[in-house]
Parts: sequence; C-alpha cells; structure tokens
Amino acid sequence: MQSVSGAVAFVTGGASGIGLGIARALAEQGAKVAVCDVREDHLAQARQVAAEEGWADRLLALRLDVTDRAGYTEALDWTEAKLGPLQILVNNAGVGIAGPVDEATHADWDWGVGVNLIGVTNGLVAGLPRIKAHGMGGHVVNTASEGAIMSARLTRGVYAPTKAAVISLTEHLRVELEAKGANIGTSVVCPGPVATNIAETEQFRPAAYRVDSPFRTLEDPHGALPPVDPTASPLWIEPIVVGRMTVHAILNDKLYVITHPQFIESVKARHAAIEAAMAPDYLPH
Ligand SMILES: NC(=O)c1ccc[n+]([C@@H]2O[C@H](COP(=O)([O-])OP(=O)(O)OC[C@H]3O[C@@H](n4cnc5c(N)ncnc54)[C@H](O)[C@@H]3O)[C@@H](O)[C@H]2O)c1
Repeated sequence: MQSVSGAVAFVTGGASGIGLGIARALAEQGAKVAVCDVREDHLAQARQVAAEEGWADRLLALRLDVTDRAGYTEALDWTEAKLGPLQILVNNAGVGIAGPVDEATHADWDWGVGVNLIGVTNGLVAGLPRIKAHGMGGHVVNTASEGAIMSARLTRGVYAPTKAAVISLTEHLRVELEAKGANIGTSVVCPGPVATNIAETEQFRPAAYRVDSPFRTLEDPHGALPPVDPTASPLWIEPIVVGRMTVHAILNDKLYVITHPQFIESVKARHAAIEAAMAPDYLPH
C-alpha cells in the first residue's frame, strides 16, 4: 500500500501493548481503526488513548475473542458497516504462554495454539476474502515473535512453536498472494522485548484451560531478560516504536519486522546448526 490514510484497519489484541501501538501508528497516518480485544478494561484504555491523541472519531472499539469464529465475522461485518471496506488486517492478539514442552498439558496447547495460531487463521479465513473482493488492495500483518527465529531457550517451549507457525504461514501467504497478483502485501512482526501487559497473560487464562505447573508466564526465571522496565534496560522498547516499524513495513511491503537486531547471533547460531546438519558427512546418505 502506498498510503494508509483513509484505509480501514482491523487490529486484534488491539487495545493494549503492541496491538495498540500498531493501531496508534496507523491512526497517526490517517487510517480508520477497528480495535478488537477480549478485555473490556483494555478497550476502555484504547478509547481514552484515541481521545487524547485526537483520533476517537476514526476508532471503533469492539470486544472480540479471536477464538470465536462467529464473533469474528460479526466484528468484521460491523467494522465494514461503520468504517468501510477492510484493507488492513492485523492478526496480533496473543497469549504469553510459556512452557515447558515436556510438562505442557492439553490445556496449555489448546489455549496457546488456539489463540496464537488458530486466532490468526480465524482472522485470515474471515478477513482475507473481504480484502480480495473489493480490489483496492490491502495488507495482512501477523504478529509472531523474534523468539521463534532464535535458538531455543528455556521458558518458550509452548509459545515459540505457535509463533514459528505464524511466521511460516505468513511466508507462504506472501508467495501465494504474489503469484496471484492479488495486490495484498504481507508482513510478520517478530518483536523482541516490548514493554506491554503480556506478563498478565496467566491472570486471564480462561477457566477451561486452567492448570498448575511451573514456567507458565514469559517472565524469565533464568534471568536471560531483565524485568519489564524500559528505563532499566535499552532492550525493552515501547509499543509505538513497533507500531511505526509495522506501518513502515505496510507502506514498503516488507515481509519481516524484526525489532531487535541485538539478537542476531542467536538467529545465526540456529541457522548454522541447520546448515551443519546438511553437510554431506553429517548423516550416512
Ligand atoms: N511484549 C513482547 O515482548 C512480545 C514479544 C514477542 C511477541 N509478542 C506478541 O505480541 C502480541 C501482542 O502482545 P503484547 O505484548 O502487546 O501483550 P498485551 O497483553 O499487552 O496485549 C495483548 C492483547 O491481546 C488481548 N488478547 C489476549 N487473548 C485474546 C483473545 N483470545 N482474543 C482477543 N484478544 C486477546 C489481550 O487482552 C491484550 O489486550 C502477542 O501476539 C504477543 O505474543 C509480544
């Protein structure tokens, strides 16, 4: 897209953290934004932010759980009725479910995969045909995580696989849409540490998925990350920074939005291990 001004965007998990950062950055450039979230308190916060920043007349704040397929269609119908044809779909809602894999329960997988992966596919199934139909072009943004391209670490065992799937899904979607000349761009946001409310994830785990086990949040008991405090470490960045990176990616159709170049050695180490496993003498071919 060459401009987002006047375009209609739909941002899930859009009332807090990175989603709100993306919504604000889109609004800054003149977009109309439907902000959807499962938390009413976050929706109230988004309305307040929009009022303070002067884009309340271009905001639609809607309650939506991304695992609710019927609700998704209703939210998109309402958005298009109120704001106009959907052009920018931002599948951002996610839960910071941690792991570890060897102790994870069915409830952990059902919830983690259900929100972080199936929530994204629900958005694509409900939203993509609408963007294709009007022919004005558009853009799909999916939020994954930098943790999904880095070498494996403790405490990301359930979370990172859900996000790795979102990266792969976006890469394939991009190839398909390009092959069809659909005029719909694609980006996958891979954030490193961003100062958001993600550490509250477990407090809002639905009752049906509640279990007791260690390592349930993205707080890092091994000390690889400092506590969430942007004033204490330059690693923590503000959501609006990620939002502006994302809008840049939409305007320039960039696939990857990788917020933290600081982690490149971890990414390289993973790639090197894969390449080493492809050496002729690695296996008895
Ligand atoms: N904060 C980070 O450091 C970080 C790093 C990598 C990736 N991410 C990803 O960024 C995305 C946004 O997270 P954030 O850090 O801004 O956290 P956040 O908790 O501040 O925002 C996430 C929002 O999603 C909403 N949400 C949760 N489950 C939902 C559901 N089922 N349906 C609709 N909304 C739902 C929450 O209510 C919340 O408002 C997530 O996908 C997360 O995995 C965050």
